[in-house]
Amino acid sequence: MGCNEEMSLNDRILQYLESVGGFDTYDFAQKIKEDHVKIVGAVKSLLAYDELVTTENRSRTLWALTPEGNEFVNEGSKEMRVFKLVPSEGLPIAQVMTQGTKIGFNKAVANGWLRVEKGIVKPSNAPTEDTVQIHLDHIFKNCSEKVSQADKDVYKKRKLIEQVIVNSLYVDKGEKFTVELQKVENDLTAEMIATGAWKDLVFKPYNYNSMGTLPEGGHLHPLLKVRAQIRQIFLEMGFTEMPTNNYVESSFWNFDALFQPQQHPAREAHDTFFLSEPALSHQFPRDYLEQVKRVHSRGGFGSQGYGYEWQEEEAQKNLLRTHTTAVSARMLYKLAKEGFRPAKYFSIDRVFRNEELDATHLAEFQQVEGVIADHNLTLGNLIGVLSEFFKKMGMDQLRFKPAYNPYTEPSMEIFSYHNGLGKWIEVGNSGVFRPEMLLPMGLPEDVNVIAWGLSLERPTMIKYGIDNIRDLVGPRVDLQMVYDNPICRLDKEPTIEDKARSVEDTWQLLSFQVERMKNEIRRLHSLVNQSRHIICVDPSTPPYSLLVLLRLVKSFASKTVSVETNLHSALPLLSSYFNYYLSTDSRDTQHGKGSADFNFSFVWKQSGEVKLSFCSSQRDIVGEVNVCRYLARIAEENSSTLTLYERKGEVKSSQIDECVDIIHSLLTTSNREKQSDLLKRVDKLLVASPFITGSSVSVADICLWSAINQLSDIDIIPLNIRKFFVRCCNHPWFAPHLSLN
Ligand code: PHE
Repeated sequence: MGCNEEMSLNDRILQYLESVGGFDTYDFAQKIKEDHVKIVGAVKSLLAYDELVTTENRSRTLWALTPEGNEFVNEGSKEMRVFKLVPSEGLPIAQVMTQGTKIGFNKAVANGWLRVEKGIVKPSNAPTEDTVQIHLDHIFKNCSEKVSQADKDVYKKRKLIEQVIVNSLYVDKGEKFTVELQKVENDLTAEMIATGAWKDLVFKPYNYNSMGTLPEGGHLHPLLKVRAQIRQIFLEMGFTEMPTNNYVESSFWNFDALFQPQQHPAREAHDTFFLSEPALSHQFPRDYLEQVKRVHSRGGFGSQGYGYEWQEEEAQKNLLRTHTTAVSARMLYKLAKEGFRPAKYFSIDRVFRNEELDATHLAEFQQVEGVIADHNLTLGNLIGVLSEFFKKMGMDQLRFKPAYNPYTEPSMEIFSYHNGLGKWIEVGNSGVFRPEMLLPMGLPEDVNVIAWGLSLERPTMIKYGIDNIRDLVGPRVDLQMVYDNPICRLDKEPTIEDKARSVEDTWQLLSFQVERMKNEIRRLHSLVNQSRHIICVDPSTPPYSLLVLLRLVKSFASKTVSVETNLHSALPLLSSYFNYYLSTDSRDTQHGKGSADFNFSFVWKQSGEVKLSFCSSQRDIVGEVNVCRYLARIAEENSSTLTLYERKGEVKSSQIDECVDIIHSLLTTSNREKQSDLLKRVDKLLVASPFITGSSVSVADICLWSAINQLSDIDIIPLNIRKFFVRCCNHPWFAPHLSLN
């Protein structure tokens, strides 16, 4: 905070206090639109002045927006966002109901903004405003009194708002209140004392309650964390840590003591870093050195040795130790010297090799080493200990591969199956130390020493997901990586039972999903088939009613409809009339054959009756009036406004049925008298109202209109039906040249 800013805020506070005589810091912060914390800070700084102001702690409960509430204020309520998603023609529910929109969708439906019809979401009563957003905005602007308690309760339940306790200070004038601040001194200087000025100055009192800044703590490097865990494993297993504080070692302890011949390639400068200063070591246990020399050159202890001229000068050469096994050699010699007792040693420390540098190799790394010396140890003991050790590291699937080390026989490389990488990876090297190494030290003949070594970097890189050693060690290490990395966890591998259970679970889940998919495929197939209708029509009794109904379905249903009418060469007039009738709709949909929700095809066939068949196994619908009933149902079910048949209510729909039955008889009889009789019955229904069940058209009217069209003898038509027929011809549902909308 700049000094001026602080001064001016302090001045503002004092001036305000002067004018109002006491105020609450929170209210003041609101009033001058300043951060409350800043105001409190400024007031507290005023407390430094002797009796300038007094304060009293206050606290109150307020409504505040949750992060989600904030989102609502900025982007609108969830329900509004979902509502805006849906275009006027609607969207399939699956498209609307995605993961994030469920709540909003349910709310929008509950509010009546949206409705669902046969899987299609459509806008219903469009909201005029986003009330929730407006309310939350009030709360955001601290005008929560503008929102009713009931609404607040709802928003609280929806986790859009929450109550927060605001602590503030009530500030009042002190005994020595003034608006003119005297400058306070922070430091007493030598000059003030010399001039005596200190006597008249006001000093800022010490604040013993102020919080200090936290010093930046240290962060452990991943290698250190894994090191700590491995150390812990060794300690749990009863191992003692070896002193490894000597990077510089002589060739004697690094190689010769380990029965590594002096011509061994590892002892050359391109594999080992030799020291130039001091180049040589001279202090060796003489007796032991003689024994080592003997076993290399002439053999002994049951071995024939290498049979070469062992040179002490070669053993004197100083180097950076290439493995911590040099330390193990020193420890075993010491153990023999001090009188043997069984021992378990470990070390984790740095070693050096003159390596080609690449993504996984550096010239130095950390080596983990374990050594056990006891009577009559075998390879079985080694495998047992390794299994235990690596299990504790989280590796329980181990494999061993015969290997060669100059100082161990037998030797084994250790491999572990890595679940994450899905392959066997080498994790270490091990073996039983040779008698040529142990006996010259003076260890008892029946004592065996088993040992193993591994790098610390390898498990660390695997555990921390680092694939370039340079990102772990060296100048390119990102310190943020060190700060951010979690405490190392050597994850325990799942047990066989765990694995079996998880496979079983997955299997169950998959078979459940497969079953669901099969059902869905079945359902879709049947839908596809259901949607294909073939209507066989006899040209001698052209079902004009179907033309009216299909046009209604096409125009009013929310589904896509395609109607195929074939021009029939033998029936040019009739078939082109059908064609014309069904293509005069502006909403005629362009669909590939059978790709619409409903597909109808007319087939001209001299079968004597109208028959609607489905491609699926459903039974055919026979007879013009029955096909009409079916189409009327489809039209009603897929439109929210059409009333033709069942939607007219039970009473009317049974009247309709009755009349339709009469028309059915009319259509299927050629007996003139019977026809006349039936027509008279229908005529009576039309005495009181323009259409059969009242003032609007029903499926019965459509059937009647069709039947009149098909009658060969128009003289028998009674008066009311004639009037009805004229009415129909002027009604847009019947007249293809009139628009339906
Ligand atoms: N010294 C071996 C190496 O550097 C590891 C090892 C230790 C092998 C002990 C066997 C016994 O790889």
